Order: sequence, then C-alpha cells, then structure tokens
Amino acid sequence: MSLLQSWPEPIIRVQSLSESGIRKIPDRFVKPLSDRPYNFTDTRTSSVNVPLIDLENLNSSNEFVRKETLDLVSHACREWGFFQVANHGVSHELMEKTRAIWREFFQLPFEEKQKFANSPVTYEGYGSRIGMEVGAKLDWCDYFFLHYLPEALKDEKKWPCLPVSCRKLVAEYGQELVKLSRRLTKILSINLGLNEDYIHKSFGGDCETSACLRANFYPKCPEPDLTLGLSPHSDPGGITLLLPDTDIAGLQIRRDNNWLTVKPIPNAFIVNVGDQIQVLSNAIYKSVEHRVIVNSNKERVSLAFFYNPGGHTLIKPADELVTNDCPALYSPMTFNEYRSFIRIKGPCGKSQIESLKSPR
Ligand code: OGA
Ligand code: NI
Repeated sequence: MSLLQSWPEPIIRVQSLSESGIRKIPDRFVKPLSDRPYNFTDTRTSSVNVPLIDLENLNSSNEFVRKETLDLVSHACREWGFFQVANHGVSHELMEKTRAIWREFFQLPFEEKQKFANSPVTYEGYGSRIGMEVGAKLDWCDYFFLHYLPEALKDEKKWPCLPVSCRKLVAEYGQELVKLSRRLTKILSINLGLNEDYIHKSFGGDCETSACLRANFYPKCPEPDLTLGLSPHSDPGGITLLLPDTDIAGLQIRRDNNWLTVKPIPNAFIVNVGDQIQVLSNAIYKSVEHRVIVNSNKERVSLAFFYNPGGHTLIKPADELVTNDCPALYSPMTFNEYRSFIRIKGPCGKSQIESLKSPR
C-alpha cells in the first residue's frame, strides 16, 4: 500500500469552522445514528474510573507491595486495556506547561499554523483528518503530529516555532515520556513472564524504537450529539500515554459494549495498550477501543504520546507465549505495514487487528 502525496479533498480546519459561529455542523461531520454519542443507548453511557496505579509502590522496600502493584498492572492490562498512573516521575510542572503551550499553539492565527500543514505521506505537522477515503465522515478535531524517535526521524524544524518555548518544552516532555514508557514496557514484559527488556528489544531497541506525539485540539461544537472528536479506534502501536485536559472529560472506552467516560485524575497519565502489544502478547493483553466526545462549552486539548515499534521491525507473538494450547494468533508484520491501514482507512474500531488473525 502506498500513500498519496496529498489529501484527497480540501482540508477543513475544524477550529475555523467552530470559530465562524455556525449553529449547525456541516453534513460531513454528522455521524450515522448508530455512531452518535448520545443516541438511545444514552442510558448505558456512564462515568467510570479505570484502575489507578501508584508507580512509587514499585520502589517500596516491602516485597508484598511491589508484587501487588505488578499484579494491579497485570489485571488492568488483561481486563481493561487501560489504566492511569500516578507518581510516575514526570514533573507535574512540565506536564502542565507542555499542555498549556499546545493550547497556545492552537490559539495562534490560522496562517501561523498553516505553515506546518501536514500531508498524508508522514502525517507530520498540523492536520485535520486521519484517513484518505473520499467522502468519509470527518471527526471534530485538529491535531499536530511529530516524531521524537528514532533519532533519524526527529526533526525539530518540523515542530511549531511558535510559541517560542514550544520546541524546548516539547523536547523535554518527549525525553521524560520515553523514560516512563521504557519503565512501563519493562513492567509489562515482566508481567507476561518475559525478559524485562523483551518488549524494548522486540520494538527495535535503542536505535529503532519509535515515539511520536499527537497534540489533539477538540474545538467547541454547536451540535456535540451529532458527531465525535475522534471515532472509535484502537491505537495501532505499542503503548499510549495520554495527558488529558484537566477541565473537561472526553475520552470514552468500550467495555462490554457500553461506552464509559474516563474521569481523568489530576497529574496522572492515562495509559493504554496498543495493537502491537496485543500481537506480541498473543492476545493475553488486548488493545481496547476508545473514542472522544466533544461539547459545546469548552475546547479540549489532549496530548497522546505513542511509544511504538520501529517502522521496519517485524512484530509477532512472543515464542514464549505460543504453545500447543495457545497457537500464534497473528502473522508477523512490520509496524509501518500495519499502520498504513489506519492512515488510509481512518479510525475503524478494531477491524484491522481482527482481520489479521492468522488463518488456521
Ligand atoms: C488518540 C486518542 C484520546 C483523547 O489520540 O489516539 O485516543 O482523549 N486520544 O484525545
Ligand atoms: Ni487513541
């Protein structure tokens, strides 16, 4: 599959639409009834908290506390695909400042952001759609996408030059989140009964592992019950560390066919398992479908940090997790090959990983 050099249709900046004062959203954003957030299933939508893990407990001198904490992560990965982490070692001030600088970026004049307009070749830069299907329903979101790792893909010139401290802050934030992701992948490896550096190595180690950031901006929406900020999807990569908005919820996860709204805990990260961890763990851990709802009162900013295998790295179920009783569920595939699906089709629930089940 190859990607076109440019978007198939003119790009609509959702923020410009929102700020134009329209009372009705264009048809392109109106989802079919069954996909709308507040349809007749409304009564089944409720607020919930995904498990909260205090990472400081992993440094406890009490072995029981350490073991219990590992078990909590294990349970969350198996049963939820999502958890929040507190006492994760990333400075709260840095988190706050980084989110604030992105909020400021999206407040810059249109022409300033437009200098960084992205294309579907790499998705790097300022964008307003995911997927290439002509006539597809669009999501109520603008974003900025950039690479941290591998070094060869990192190019600070492609990051916003304004506000002035943006590049510096974003670089610092990335460094800290890479550290935290390494720590988390170690925990996941141990919990799966693998070597502690198993995931790190299978993602391509220090030289190949990739990491990127998507700063999401969900403008106010005059008809929030007709559309979504981000359609249902599972994250294609390894693990995602989400820094949500403090003021306003928006993330919903699918659980037993209900959509549950996640209540963000101040200063915590929301962590979720991506499709590559589902493959590598031979479905012991499952990436869970999620989506974002929007509202008419307040715009919402979230920073999604994706810690992924290298683009050319083949990901397959770990040999240690493949047995006669549990044969390999997925065929090996490079991450680039895997990711091109969502880049072409846009968010499609869990249809991609389901379609990858290796034939028996
Ligand atoms: C994502 C995502 C959730 C949010 O960027 O993949 O799921 O709350 N974001 O913005
Ligand atoms: Ni996501």
